Amino acid sequence: DINEIKRELKGALRQFPNFPSEGILFEDFLPIFSKPELFQKLIDAFKIQLEGKKVDYIVGLESRGFLFGPALALSLGVGFIPARKPGKLPGSVYSVEFQKEYGSDKLEMQVGVIEEGSNVVIVDDILATGGTAAAAESLVKKSGANVLEFLFVMELDFLKGQSKLGAPVYTLLTGQ
Ligand code: PRP
Ligand code: MG
Repeated sequence: DINEIKRELKGALRQFPNFPSEGILFEDFLPIFSKPELFQKLIDAFKIQLEGKKVDYIVGLESRGFLFGPALALSLGVGFIPARKPGKLPGSVYSVEFQKEYGSDKLEMQVGVIEEGSNVVIVDDILATGGTAAAAESLVKKSGANVLEFLFVMELDFLKGQSKLGAPVYTLLTGQ
């Protein structure tokens, strides 16, 4: 069941003190991907969350949203669309600027890849301040599509990232 899956996935996380900077305890979720049975369970858990919902696209956020977004999309039988860091995507793109801890950053998505009125689920590894995910939501809206839900593996809930987002948020391994 889902709680058993969560326990197993949580057990696979590796903690790295003082990364990426002094005083931060980094939770590394990469061990999940080195074991196919754990990777499958991660995908299964997100599929359970999306059961009965009409999803047309998974939008994955560079870089770590690319690790499992495509696998989730394929297993749902829907398309995968990448939202990328600036200057990486060819052709005409929507671009949204947002604030990072130090300075600002941009996220981009290709024009014309999502039909108007589509239902989109945005996925990433971590929700922190919410700047990245909120930028992705703006990109989806510029396409004329709807954000049905956000899926994250982990959340730093003291940063209140959810308050920047305009659709329900599901976090698999932290909170609740
Ligand atoms: C990290 C993380 C999220 C984002 C969350 O990505 O993977 O995408 O920060 O932070 P926020 O909620 O405050 O926006 P990062 O920009 O470090 O890049 P990466 O995924 O390419 O490693
Ligand atoms: Mg990221």
